[in-house]
Amino acid sequence: MTVMLADGRPMPRLGLGTWPMNDEEARQAVTHAVSLGYRLIDTAASYGNEAGVGAAVARAPVAREELFVTTKLRGSHHGYDAAMRGFEESRARLGLDYVDLYLIHWPLPGRGLYLDTWRAFVRLREQGLARSIGVSNFTPEQIGRLVAETGVPPAVNQVEMHPGFPQRELRDWHAGHDIVTESWSPLGRGSKLLDDPVVTDLAAAHGRTPAQVVLRWHVQLGAVPIPKSADPERMRQNLEVFDFSLSPEDLARLDNLGTGDRLGGDPDTHVEL
Ligand SMILES: NC(=O)c1ccc[n+]([C@@H]2O[C@H](COP(=O)([O-])OP(=O)(O)OC[C@H]3O[C@@H](n4cnc5c(N)ncnc54)[C@H](OP(=O)(O)O)[C@@H]3O)[C@@H](O)[C@H]2O)c1
Repeated sequence: MTVMLADGRPMPRLGLGTWPMNDEEARQAVTHAVSLGYRLIDTAASYGNEAGVGAAVARAPVAREELFVTTKLRGSHHGYDAAMRGFEESRARLGLDYVDLYLIHWPLPGRGLYLDTWRAFVRLREQGLARSIGVSNFTPEQIGRLVAETGVPPAVNQVEMHPGFPQRELRDWHAGHDIVTESWSPLGRGSKLLDDPVVTDLAAAHGRTPAQVVLRWHVQLGAVPIPKSADPERMRQNLEVFDFSLSPEDLARLDNLGTGDRLGGDPDTHVEL
């Protein structure tokens, strides 16, 4: 199950998030996830677990080309030269020849360096070291600036998205610009969303778990969710969302759970090192 990126490369339709996990937790989780059939793994320099992810990838019982490893540049490495260095540091920790998707983790507009950073990303893609490049937590205005200045659009924008913060406008804008929406905190980080009566009703109606209903909502909207779980049973159920469908009414009920409140940072103001 893949979605085609605008750069012509396929990306799995669902992946494993690895924050918050340390190296050893990530090694164990990724090892188990790959054995269950996960092919997309999401990490970041700032998670402090790239070495653990890389160790699991190195020993995975599937070929490297079957896996899709995403990592992200941390804020301390914005700027052209710093981004090139940051990439090399991530690649060394991961122990990989290339990464499948490299993202600018946050735009940090106050620092004013995301455009220079993007120029480094374009170079890394030309070198084949980052097969696809994208951004995370960027606004349409910020993406518009990248495209206007470099002519290279991001293949992906990874943003907070779940029924409590459904990102209607942004996901429509992405669709109109051939950018894949990747959803972080796709389960709304757990119990509050998963215990919502709308979610539990739909789960009962479809004979599924609340998490499966929410992940199916992402998939049917064309977004790529990256649920984090360190629990083998929850990892398994989170992947099993490709054999049932929600109706348009079901999707609308979930979309209506939006509160306007984010769980995480606001792209315009968030400061990350
Ligand atoms: N780009 C960014 O700025 C950014 C920001 C935040 C996160 N992310 C990425 O997105 C990933 C996911 O986001 P997230 O971890 O914030 O939130 P999430 O995936 O929505 O929720 C994770 C929480 O839900 C629990 N959970 C997982 N599957 C479950 C299930 N089937 N039933 C009940 N509970 C379940 C997990 O606990 P157990 O582990 O015990 O199962 C964990 O407490 C992160 O790991 C990270 O890779 C990116």
